[in-house]
Order: sequence, then C-alpha cells, then structure tokens
Amino acid sequence: MPELLDALAAVLHDCVEGGASVNYMAPFSREDARGAFEGFATEVERGNRLLLAAFAGGELVGTVQVILASPPNQPHRGEIAKLLVQRTARGRGVAQLLMQGAESEARAEGKSLLVLDTVTGDGAERLYERLGWTRVGVIPNYALYPDGRPCDTSVFWKSV
Ligand SMILES: CC(C)(COP(=O)(O)OP(=O)(O)OC[C@H]1O[C@@H](n2cnc3c(N)ncnc32)[C@H](O)[C@@H]1OP(=O)(O)O)[C@@H](O)C(=O)NCCC(=O)NCCS
Repeated sequence: MPELLDALAAVLHDCVEGGASVNYMAPFSREDARGAFEGFATEVERGNRLLLAAFAGGELVGTVQVILASPPNQPHRGEIAKLLVQRTARGRGVAQLLMQGAESEARAEGKSLLVLDTVTGDGAERLYERLGWTRVGVIPNYALYPDGRPCDTSVFWKSV
C-alpha cells in the first residue's frame, strides 16, 4: 500500500537524518528512502524478506526486516536488517517489541539461527545483548556514518 511505503520511508529518512549508519549516505531524501522501501517490498512479495511495522496511536513509528533468502546450505539461517524507530518514539520499548516479533516470525518461517550486525557502541548493541544475542566481535572501520565518518561494526547471533 502506497501510504505504508510512505510511512516506512519517513521512518528511514528520520533515522538517517539522525545520523544512523544503516547503509545510506547524506544527502538522503524522502524519495531515496521511498525507493529503498519499494525495493524491500519487492523482496517481501518474492518471499525473500519479512517486514514488520510498529504503530503507536495509529502512526507507523518503527520497522524491522528479516532476510529469509539464504544459500542452499544455510536454510535455517536468517538475518535481521533495518531495525528503525523514529526519533520521537524511542526509549519506549518499540525496538524491543519489533525484535521479539521478528524472532518469533523468523522461527515460524523455519529459521533457527539469526545473525545481525550493528554499529559498535550505539544503543542498539545494548538492546541486542539484553534480548539474549551473543556478540561475536568487532570489525573496525566496517562502514560509514551518513556524514562519511567511519564506524566499527559488531556482529551478533542468536538461536531462536
Ligand atoms: C536502536 C533503536 C532501533 C532503538 O529503538 P528504541 O525503540 O528506542 O529501543 P527501546 O525503546 O526498545 O530501547 C531503548 C532504550 O529505552 C529503554 N526503554 C524501553 N522501554 C522503556 C520505558 N517504557 N521506559 C523507559 N525506558 C525504556 C530501554 O531499556 C533502552 O535503554 P538503553 O538504551 O539504556 O539500553 C533506535 O535508536 C534507532 O532506530 N536507531 C537508529 C537506527 C539504528 O541504529 N538501528 C539499528 C541498526 S542494526
């Protein structure tokens, strides 16, 4: 639905504006964000991804994806991607609910092992540790913040 894609794009745009390192560089427009979610929607239609959204008071405030597509020798493995909560809705447990939903939906799709990576030292790391994820280690200078500064990345896994 076009309104949902617009709302998802608004959350992604807000997160990148806020400096989140989630694959995109500044300048990053609402149209860029909309294009990204059009691509994700195609992947969902093909059965390659799950996409969950969280609503507060009727407004879409957060989202997360599970990448289901995996090589033939890893059918049991999924990957968490694009956990995003708009800045005004943070600190209320929205991300925790999204992660719990993502883990349970991944399990329902036959996944027993999930992996993810995230910027080292950000709040998301604490969230994953709180939810029982194991940190494998840190890869220095793995990615860039939207403004071009390098950031380290922590890799996590969880049996679900
Ligand atoms: C990381 C991110 C998803 C967290 O979203 P969130 O909805 O704020 O997460 P939660 O509310 O579940 O947890 C955040 C904090 O609020 C606290 N909290 C949760 N519910 C609370 C409540 N009812 N009252 C008070 N505090 C609460 C949590 O304990 C947590 O505290 P901590 O940061 O000290 O550990 C969000 O900051 C974000 O979108 N960041 C940008 C994108 C990004 O980096 N995504 C991760 C990519 S892997």
